[in-house]
Amino acid sequence: MRMRVLPKANDACWCGSGNKFKRCHKNSTNPVRQGRISPLRPVPDSIAKPMWADTGYNERWDEPHVKSPDVIERMRRTGKDAANTLAYLGTLVQPGVTTEEIDKACHERAIELNAYPSPLMYPGSVEPFPKSLCTSINEVICHGIPDDRPMEDGDVVNFDVTLYKEGVHGDTNATFFVGTVDEGSKRLTTVTRDCTMRGIEAAKPGNKLNDIGRAIQQYAEANGYGVVRDFVGHGIGEQFHTDLQICHYYHPRLDDVIEPGMTFTIEPMITMGQWRARMWADGWTAVTADGLRTAQFEHTILITDDGPEILTTPDDTSIHPFWAL
Ligand code: MF3
Ligand code: CO
Ligand code: CO
Repeated sequence: MRMRVLPKANDACWCGSGNKFKRCHKNSTNPVRQGRISPLRPVPDSIAKPMWADTGYNERWDEPHVKSPDVIERMRRTGKDAANTLAYLGTLVQPGVTTEEIDKACHERAIELNAYPSPLMYPGSVEPFPKSLCTSINEVICHGIPDDRPMEDGDVVNFDVTLYKEGVHGDTNATFFVGTVDEGSKRLTTVTRDCTMRGIEAAKPGNKLNDIGRAIQQYAEANGYGVVRDFVGHGIGEQFHTDLQICHYYHPRLDDVIEPGMTFTIEPMITMGQWRARMWADGWTAVTADGLRTAQFEHTILITDDGPEILTTPDDTSIHPFWAL
């Protein structure tokens, strides 16, 4: 057996990239691996469910991008419930807690709120999503499946909560620190939060959809980071994902004008290294191709005459600096 001696943080990485080890493969020496996934959790019959809940199948319909006042009112309430659930999950983060335990807490809180946890049984390319929450650790970009892996001191973990209540969805996520994390991960997380907020500020009526991605990409790349291309923000309302796509990088053809009454998510995934993604065999877990860390923050927003209104701010904004802006 050959021992590999790891370089020092500031030495050149062993992979030959020419980057410092700490900016390259330092974190991929302890990759996230699939753990054990527990059986499906039931949802009581009293809770109104989206189409996929019992079948793992979904059929999309044409939903207007501009919502009625009635849909908007319901989205304000469901968005608030999703945000409060996310903030609550954030208080449970500590080394040794499994993502499975966080999923259970999400599932139970959703039911207490009389809401359906939208990810549960949502159809995918291989199998329906088997849990009520997405939990994405370190190099996992998004759609990580909660399992029996204990969160470790130094991890960064994203929880992505979507609730369905009153016939509409509210979708929001945030990246949390497990114990003490390194400076590089802190900076990545702060820049990602700021990317999300800059994207939201660009979502003004009269601007174009691609002004959002332009603002995000400029700020991410100015900080030396990458913007994931394979996953985008989306129109949301009576459906979890409508046909409206919000790229987090500049896409010249996305030149539709942003109009009051539109509701969509902004949820950039920002990478320390390359933006390329790989998919695990489960058809859900997306990881960075280079194994470096990534972070994400997501809000559901409504476009008003005065500008963007965030629908997913929790009541207690002190739990994470993301909400204190
Ligand atoms: N909440 C994710 C989003 O922001 C979608 C998760 S789909 C799931 O669009 F099935 F993985 F839950
Ligand atoms: Co979303
Ligand atoms: Co989401």
